[in-house]
Amino acid sequence: MSVPLTFDGRVVLVTGAGGGLGREYALAFGQRGAAVIVNDLGGDIKGGGRSSAAADKVVEEIRAKGGKAVANYDSVEDGEKLIQTALDAFGRIDIVVNNAGILRDRSFARTSDMDWDLIHRVHLRGSFLVTRAAWNHMKNQKFGRIIMTSSAAGIYGNFGQANYSAAKLGLLGLSNTLAIEGQKYNIHCNTVAPTAGSRLTETVMPPDLVESLKAEYVAPLVLWLCHEACQENGGLFEVGAGWIGKLRWERSIGRTVRQKNKSMTPEAVRDSWNEICDFTDATKPANIQESLQTLVEVLSKVDAGRGIGANPTGAAATNPSAAVGQMLPEMTFTYTHMNCILYALGVGMSTKDPDHLQFLYEGHQEFSCLPTFGVIAAQSAMTGLGSIPGLDIDFTRLLHGEQYLELFKPLPISGTLTSRATVADVLDKGSGMIVLLDVHTYSGGELVCYNQFSVFIVGAGGFGGKRMSQKAVVTAPPPDRPADAVIVEETSRDQAALYRLSGDWNPLHIDPSFAAMGGFKSPILHGLCSFGFAARHVLKQYAGNDVSRFKSIKVRFVKPVYPGQSLQTEMWKEANRIHIQCKVKETGAVVLSGAYIDLHAAADASVSAGPPQTDGLQSDLVFAEIGRRIRDLGEELVKKVNAVLAWEIMKDGKRVRQWTMDLKTGRGALLRDADGGRADVTFTVADEDFMDVVMGKLNPQKAFFAGKLKVKGNIMLSQKLEAVLKDYAKL
Ligand code: NAI
Repeated sequence: MSVPLTFDGRVVLVTGAGGGLGREYALAFGQRGAAVIVNDLGGDIKGGGRSSAAADKVVEEIRAKGGKAVANYDSVEDGEKLIQTALDAFGRIDIVVNNAGILRDRSFARTSDMDWDLIHRVHLRGSFLVTRAAWNHMKNQKFGRIIMTSSAAGIYGNFGQANYSAAKLGLLGLSNTLAIEGQKYNIHCNTVAPTAGSRLTETVMPPDLVESLKAEYVAPLVLWLCHEACQENGGLFEVGAGWIGKLRWERSIGRTVRQKNKSMTPEAVRDSWNEICDFTDATKPANIQESLQTLVEVLSKVDAGRGIGANPTGAAATNPSAAVGQMLPEMTFTYTHMNCILYALGVGMSTKDPDHLQFLYEGHQEFSCLPTFGVIAAQSAMTGLGSIPGLDIDFTRLLHGEQYLELFKPLPISGTLTSRATVADVLDKGSGMIVLLDVHTYSGGELVCYNQFSVFIVGAGGFGGKRMSQKAVVTAPPPDRPADAVIVEETSRDQAALYRLSGDWNPLHIDPSFAAMGGFKSPILHGLCSFGFAARHVLKQYAGNDVSRFKSIKVRFVKPVYPGQSLQTEMWKEANRIHIQCKVKETGAVVLSGAYIDLHAAADASVSAGPPQTDGLQSDLVFAEIGRRIRDLGEELVKKVNAVLAWEIMKDGKRVRQWTMDLKTGRGALLRDADGGRADVTFTVADEDFMDVVMGKLNPQKAFFAGKLKVKGNIMLSQKLEAVLKDYAKL
């Protein structure tokens, strides 16, 4: 188990801590090292009477267990006094749990002014006053954790609780704004909607439920949200019985019912009602900017005469079926060792580090090109997106969402590379559209690398497309343990200025006024620059800078990095996969997530070179031989076979290897674990059966009819295998 969460040195105020949930929170904080102010007015559940007994008793309980606590008997309406008690007793205030509460349930018609006001005074105004009194102390110390206590009655409504529901949901609104205002001071505010047996619920719940829904099943969530390690801010959680769930807003795609130069009518609303209320592919706006953005887009689309009667993003121009499969014009990229060196400097390499010379000095005996340079030859494909039929892309709204790069051999240190880009898929994410662009890059007809660019066009969703694609190379979360290795490295003030010389000329990375238009305080670093940093950190840590060990990398770009900030690459090794998370060290913000690099355990077993890597698979040896044959006789084989053949090798019922034999393009290639989706025929066979057939122990027809050998696609092509396999021709 990981390190226990403690609160040593922290001062916590829990309001209404004389009983119920508040008492449980106070005891739990006390037990984990915090100094606790146990506040309770000691009144009845309707807000009448007062007594010091309740708070005193909890203070005694905490002290009896060796904890630190003082009592406060003021009403939360005297917010300043509660905070003063904390300052007098312990000199600071770090955490405020607004928990005090009463009930005055009435059906709405019978709700008196007093019923309304008292509830609002204790719950909403009380939380406001206590929190305001603590706010500047938290701001000055750049740390604060605040909890607001809402209720399912507020979230969903409940008969007889109009006053209480209104106040409880008011607390969520308060919390939402405090989360925004507090963020830059490391003050986080979250809201809980608990369910637990207490004197407040014993009137509405059966006794056995009151008994079973223990307050101790709620407290751990409150403690975690209040811990310094917890980065959650502005969240809303339902919690009870040991279960915790997070809530968020959902919004239908909606419908624009206004037409240019015409008045908007209730009839138009009526006629579009089903679409307005249709939650299929609903969006989940997370902030007011995302919410307003839709309206701004509607204004520009409708008033420009587009988008009439359309979804709010006006994405009517999007036609995925026209776009998918479209090929962009072929691109060529010629480079020398200078480009490799410039790129290496762009991703932060320096002569300060002696082992960087291998990438910075063309005279070095192992001079190599960094594997992530593979994106450079392919990146101009993104600009070609502007001319794809079925896609109407607004480039000012384009974000580079994710990147996958796979190398099939180490990149040459100079030469001419040819890239062919295809629109692999178009996805509708509601709030935006994702275009998956597959780019295959060849050197002299031989496939060198494959990139998948995943670009997100903000506001271009809602065209009724699918949300997911099998063609997308997906991210993978890191294991749930501290990182196995961490490398921290400062980027230079001129990192973006240097990186852009490798070919990404977007002014966002150099021009302050352009960056300001995009909402950034100054020009930001290229996402692919951080990507390059992270990749070489892994290459150094786990592959001794041996570029032939690099197989592939996948990252999701999450947040911007400013030149001059430090990048912290956290790495987890899981067999040949190195999971990565990259953060800005100064802020802790995650900038690359779900990322990983796959390394070859030994030198690549594909056509490229080196000893085959078997991982215990006998068929790997056969394919290593096939790879050699293709390398020697590739052109001839392409002429004879003119097809792409794929093998799925199974072990214990799972697919463990994919071999794709491209005998259709260039001089042919054998690819290991590449996407075999474009194969004309695919054979699926267990490793042992494959060997039996190859060794002549198992007749292929028999294997086929016994279900040991499955064939998908053009079965007739198997006849052409003889050309490739010769001695192994039986398969
Ligand atoms: P409880 O009645 O056991 O605890 C509330 C405490 O607040 C009492 O000890 C009371 O003396 C104190 N209090 C009331 N007015 C005060 C004031 N003006 N100043 C200082 N202290 C005051 O009730 P419970 O269930 O522990 O409730 C805690 C919070 O959780 C409340 O805000 C309640 O609305 C909320 N809640 C509880 C649910 C439950 O299932 N128990 C459901 C949803 C919300």
